[in-house]
Amino acid sequence: MTTSHNTDLIVIDGVSHTFDTNSGQLQVLDKLTLGVPENGFSAIVGPSGCGKSTVTRLVAGLLKPDEGTVWLQGKQVTSPRATVGMAFQNPVLLEWRSILKNVMLPLEIVPNDLSSSAREARARDLLKLVGLAGFEDKRPSELSGGMRQRASLCRALVHRPEVLILDEPFGALDAFTREDLWLTMHRLREEEPFTGVLITHDLREAIFLADEVIVMSGRPATVQYSQTLPQRGPRSLDQLYTPEATDMLNILREQIKIARQGEEPGA
Ligand SMILES: Nc1ncnc2c1ncn2[C@@H]1O[C@H](COP(=O)(O)OP(=O)(O)O)[C@@H](O)[C@H]1O
Ligand SMILES: [Mg+2]
Repeated sequence: MTTSHNTDLIVIDGVSHTFDTNSGQLQVLDKLTLGVPENGFSAIVGPSGCGKSTVTRLVAGLLKPDEGTVWLQGKQVTSPRATVGMAFQNPVLLEWRSILKNVMLPLEIVPNDLSSSAREARARDLLKLVGLAGFEDKRPSELSGGMRQRASLCRALVHRPEVLILDEPFGALDAFTREDLWLTMHRLREEEPFTGVLITHDLREAIFLADEVIVMSGRPATVQYSQTLPQRGPRSLDQLYTPEATDMLNILREQIKIARQGEEPGA
């Protein structure tokens, strides 16, 4: 088997992708190249429809690139990987299962040698870590949107995936709930180190959570700009209101404006 020379845990190397649509061929990605080191967390921002979710599907092996290669831990991704944890804007929890059983689901699907009591203990520990102790036996509809998203993060991490992919996970939450979830993300990262990609349209969220922010261009998308954050690990919300943070946000906003050039007004 071929192996990657790049030592990053996630490597997207010169990936291009075109979809066949009713109105013809749509080239979404054009030689996109980026890497995320082990235990790194990169945020990807870019115009709506530029191909961010397509990137997540390529990393998860749900889609094969027309050109270029995706590598995880030095191995080429050619088929869906069970060792990728994913969470989306809509948590899609199963209503007929309790929160605990929802979180345990990946342990029933992905091969592992945990006993059933160890699986349950693992799920309970994670729920406690995100502040959901006491809600294990509730059904998804009995929880608030923010709590469902917390449970969804636990489910994405329960089988200790190689990679965590978050596709606009906090997009549907109100601003205060979202900030609580950001703090939870930092706690999770400290307790459960993972290598991850966060897709977001919230620039504050990107600089608060990630080690690196990557701006994708408009279609066909490539990496237009990237910025490494000065700090890794937990941050306080106050830091979002410092002159340094404001400068960074202004640069990112400017980059998004450039990326959106050529879009239909109001698209
Ligand atoms: N399976 C598909 N078939 C055809 N077109 C697709 C498919 N998936 C995505 N697209 C199109 O590709 C573009 C990029 O989609 P997506 O990656 O979801 O963008 P983003 O997540 O950045 O908003 C969009 O124009 C979308 O309509
Ligand atoms: Mg998307």
